[in-house]
Amino acid sequence: MSKRILVTAALPYANGPLHLGHLAGAYLPSDLYVRYKRLKGDEVVFICGSDEHGVPITIAADKEGVTPQDIVDRYHAINKKAFEDFGISFDYYGRTSSETHKRISQDFFKTLHNKGVFTRKKEEQFFDVSAGMFLADRYIKGTCPKCGYEEAYGDQCEKCGASLSPSELINPVSMLSGETPELRETEHWYIPLGNYQEWLAKWIDEKTDWKPNVTGQCKSWLDAGLNERAVTRDLKWGVPVPLDDAEGKVLYVWFDAPIGYISATVEWAAQIGDPEGWKMFWQDEDTELIHFIGKDNIVFHCIMFPAMLKAHGDYVLPKNVPANEFLNLEGKKLSTSRGWAVWLHEYLEDFEPDLLRYALTTSLPETKDSDFVWKEFQGKVNNDLADVFGNFVFRTFSFIHRFFDSRIPELKNPNKQDLDLLDEIEKHAKLISASYEKFRFKDAASHTINLARLGNRYFTEKEPWHSRKNNLEDCANTLHVCAQITAALSVFFSPIIPDACDRLQKALNLEINGLLLWEEAHKNMLKASSVVEEMEILFKKVEDDIIEKQLQKLLEKSSSVSAAGNDAGDKSYEPLRDIITYDDFAKLDFRTGIILKAEKMKKSKKLLRIEVDLGFEKRTVLSGIAEFYKPEELSGQKVVVVANLAPRKMMGTESEGMILMAENPDGGLRFVESDAEPGALLS
Ligand code: 2FM
Ligand code: ZN
Repeated sequence: MSKRILVTAALPYANGPLHLGHLAGAYLPSDLYVRYKRLKGDEVVFICGSDEHGVPITIAADKEGVTPQDIVDRYHAINKKAFEDFGISFDYYGRTSSETHKRISQDFFKTLHNKGVFTRKKEEQFFDVSAGMFLADRYIKGTCPKCGYEEAYGDQCEKCGASLSPSELINPVSMLSGETPELRETEHWYIPLGNYQEWLAKWIDEKTDWKPNVTGQCKSWLDAGLNERAVTRDLKWGVPVPLDDAEGKVLYVWFDAPIGYISATVEWAAQIGDPEGWKMFWQDEDTELIHFIGKDNIVFHCIMFPAMLKAHGDYVLPKNVPANEFLNLEGKKLSTSRGWAVWLHEYLEDFEPDLLRYALTTSLPETKDSDFVWKEFQGKVNNDLADVFGNFVFRTFSFIHRFFDSRIPELKNPNKQDLDLLDEIEKHAKLISASYEKFRFKDAASHTINLARLGNRYFTEKEPWHSRKNNLEDCANTLHVCAQITAALSVFFSPIIPDACDRLQKALNLEINGLLLWEEAHKNMLKASSVVEEMEILFKKVEDDIIEKQLQKLLEKSSSVSAAGNDAGDKSYEPLRDIITYDDFAKLDFRTGIILKAEKMKKSKKLLRIEVDLGFEKRTVLSGIAEFYKPEELSGQKVVVVANLAPRKMMGTESEGMILMAENPDGGLRFVESDAEPGALLS
C-alpha cells in the first residue's frame, strides 16, 4: 500500500555556498531516499529551503558591510541553483525570510505562549558596550569549558560538539569589537525542556529502528538532564516575537528554522493549487515524517523540535531522523574558512553530477566519519561506472545494434545460466530495496553495481562473439538477458545516477508516462523486437591530469586563504577518532616515568634512544622526536609511556614501549606529563 511521506533536509544557512560536506550530510542521502520512495509509488513531498535568520547570517553581512537581506538573497539563489544542477529533487525550496514563514512561526510561538508553555525570565547576558548590543550565540567566542578549545562559540563548541550558553565560556570575547563584554540584564522566553524529559526519554526509547549514532547522542543529552532553553534573542534580524511587550526581540533561529519545514510545505501546497494540501502531511497521523540532517543538528531535531511539536499538539512527530556523521576531505576536516573544501558549484564546472553522486554514495558517513579523496573518486568513476556499468551497457547495445538489427532478441530455450541471471533481477531488487528502507545507501549502491558486475561477467562467460557464428539462438538469449539486466539497472540505479539512467531509459524506449516504478523492473521488462536506439557511452573515464588539477586547486585555495590570514581561529584539528569501548581502553597500560638519558640514533634524523625510569624497571624506548627536542635537554623530563606495547625493533635496537606525545595542530610534538610518581598507572 502506498504511503504518505514527508521528507525534509536540514535548511542550510544562506550565508555561503554549499560544499561536499553539506551534500554528504543531508542532501544526497535525502534525495536518494526520496527518489527511491517515488519509484516505490509512495506519495512523497520533499522539502528544504534556506535558513535565513540567526547570527551566521548577520555576521556574514557585518563582514561585507551589506544588509542581512543582501546576504540571504545572494546565497538563497546560489544554493537553490546548485541543488537543482546537482539533481537534488526538492518539491519545494523555501526560505525563512518569507511572509508565510513569519506568520506560521509567530502563530506557533503564540500557541505555545497561550498554552503557558514558556517561562519568562530576566537574566544577565553579555553586552558589547561599543557596539551597543547584546551578544547572542556566535557573536561571542571563548574557551570551551568542556574541552578547552579556545575558539568555541557562545552556543556551541565546534570541536567537541557541546551545546553551550555564552555565560559558560571562559574568557569571552565579542566578535564585533574584540573586547571583553559586560553583563547586563535582559528578559527572554524559555522553553523548559525538563518538562518534556520523561516523555522524550520514552519516545526515544521506542525508536529501535533509529541509527545508533542518533539514539546514542539523544540518550547522552537525556542522561545529562534537559534544561530550559531560551527561544528568543535580542537581535534586529529574525522573526519578531509576536507579543506587545517584546520590542527588539526576535525568535531564536533554532526555534524558527525547523518551523520552516512547515511553512515551506504550506507554500508548496499553495503553489500546486491545493492550499489545504499541506495539512495531510503535517496533521495526519499516517504521514511518515523523516528529517535528514548532519550530526551537529541532532539535538535540535530529536529533542528540541519534538518537544516544541508535542507542546503545540497539532503536528505529527518525526518517524525517523537518519543523521549522518561528518565527511572529511583528503584526510583533513573540511573547513570553509581555511579554503579546505570542494564547492558544489565549482565541481559542476568540471564534472557531471552523476559521477559525484555515485562516488559520494559509496562513501557516505552513515555510521562514522568518512573521507572524500579525489583519487578514490577517480577509481569509483573509472572502475565501477565506466568499466563495469558503462562497459556492460556498451557491449549490450553494440551487439544488439550490429547483429540484431537494433531490436531486442527473443528468449528461446534459455539455459540455466540465462535463467539464473534473470532471477538475479528480482533478488537484487529485494536487496537494494531493503538497503534503502534502512537508510543504508552505501549498501544500496554496492548491491546495484554488483548486478552490473554479474551482467558483465555473464557477457564475458557466454562469449556472444563466438555464439553469433556457431549458435545464434544462444547469442540471442545472451543479448536478451543482458538487455533485461540493463533495463532493470536503469531503474535500480536511478536514485543514485539519475541522468545516466534517464539516457539509458530513453535509448531503451522505456519512457512510459515519465516515471518507471520499481515494480516494473523485472525480467520481462523489455518486449522482444522492441527497438534500441543509438546511445553515447554512459561514462567517460576521468584522466589522471584532471584529478591532479583538482588537488592542485584545493591546495592553492587553502594556501591563498592562509596567506591572506583568513584561517585565524580555525586551526586544523585532527578529526575525532572512532568511539571505543571501555574494555578497549582498559587494555592499554599507561605508566608515568622519568627520562634518565637520551641520545641520537646513528643514521636517523628523527629517532632518539631514550632510557626511561618506570619506577619498577627501566626501559629503552625509541621515539621520533629528534626534530623537536635535543637529547641533552631531556634528562629529568616527566613522561607517560604505553608500557604494554609489543616490543619493536628499529634500526637494530628494540624499543620497549612508546612515549606519549601530543601533536599540536601546527604539527609540533610535545610531551604528555604527569606529576605522579614513576610507575603510576593511568586510568
Ligand atoms: O546547521 C545548519 O545549517 C542549520 N541552518 C540547519 C537548520 S535545520 C532546520 F531546523 F531548519
Ligand atoms: Zn568543546
